[in-house]
Amino acid sequence: MKTVVYKPSPENIRLLADLLRRGETVAFPTETVYGLGADALNESAVAKIYAAKGRPGDNPLIVHLYDPAQLKDVALSVPPMAYELMSAFTPGPLTLIFRKKPEIPDCVTGGLDTVGVRFPAHTAAIRLLRETDRPVCAPSANLSTRPSPTTAQHVLADLDGRIPAILDGGPCEVGLESTIVDVSGDRPRLLRKGGIPAEALLPYTGPLETVETADKPLCPGMKYKHYAPEAEVFFSAYYDGMSDTIAAKYDELVSAGKRAVILCLDGNAAKYGDRALYRMGPDFTTYARNAFAALRRADAEKYDAVIAEGVHSAGIGGALINRLIKSSGGKVI
Ligand code: TXA
Ligand code: MG
Repeated sequence: MKTVVYKPSPENIRLLADLLRRGETVAFPTETVYGLGADALNESAVAKIYAAKGRPGDNPLIVHLYDPAQLKDVALSVPPMAYELMSAFTPGPLTLIFRKKPEIPDCVTGGLDTVGVRFPAHTAAIRLLRETDRPVCAPSANLSTRPSPTTAQHVLADLDGRIPAILDGGPCEVGLESTIVDVSGDRPRLLRKGGIPAEALLPYTGPLETVETADKPLCPGMKYKHYAPEAEVFFSAYYDGMSDTIAAKYDELVSAGKRAVILCLDGNAAKYGDRALYRMGPDFTTYARNAFAALRRADAEKYDAVIAEGVHSAGIGGALINRLIKSSGGKVI
């Protein structure tokens, strides 16, 4: 299969919406990461997502909508807290888990009686969803286990020849996936940290259960290996002497014959002398935006090891720490 990359012109949006309605997969930009979409009500279309990504079938998909009025086709009930969260944070990087309508096939929800719903903010995504006018389920458009794609080129690198089309809406603004909040039960639960900081949710949710352990993940998807480049990743905790620890780790790797690169904020670059660096911009927001791209770049440039600076856990920092630790497989220095 030939994979074609399209710019978001009105004609191309119509063409890609048509592909989705005919049961094909289309990768599209969102403000978090690129998604690989299919008609959520068409089981054979959804099967193509799992096949293209090599994704385990018990890992449920998020359904993407453009209009809250579509919720009645997807969710069995929408509690008042969900409306408050939606008016505060959507369209945007928030996924809510609801009890699902029976019409949503098991292959979308991994057999669960709940469904994840998200309203992306990227204009090209909204235009595509509106033109398609069906619920579109979409996981991140990477090969399973690889870092999530934040440009159309990343999608192409993983899925060339496996999907018919990619909508190129430029680099993603947030760079990390949506925050997932389960509002289907008695008490709200934070299932995945993401683009909306956990502390911003609290005024709406009250106390949020956030327990996540390796053997009991809250999100089915979080038990799998994740976000891993070929290079070995090390993550440093965030503290005053962090750059000394990172420099020492770098030197140890290099004397063992490895090629290593450090991910650091611009302001810290001088602390590392002439060691190889990827500058992640001035602050945690740019670091988060560029993190997955940096992991892919390290592979393209054949580094053996990546050492990532830690950040503090406020704002987007919480999600960034989570993704970097997962990509390191728990190798925290
Ligand atoms: O920002 C995002 O959320 C991106 C863009 C494309 O929208 N999507 C994304 O999808 O990150 P994916 O498939 O890579 O991650 C979805 C996560 C998985 O960990 C999955 O287990 C969880 O959401 N999930 C989906 N439906 C669920 C449900 N009903 N209950 C609990 N977890 C669910
Ligand atoms: Mg993913």
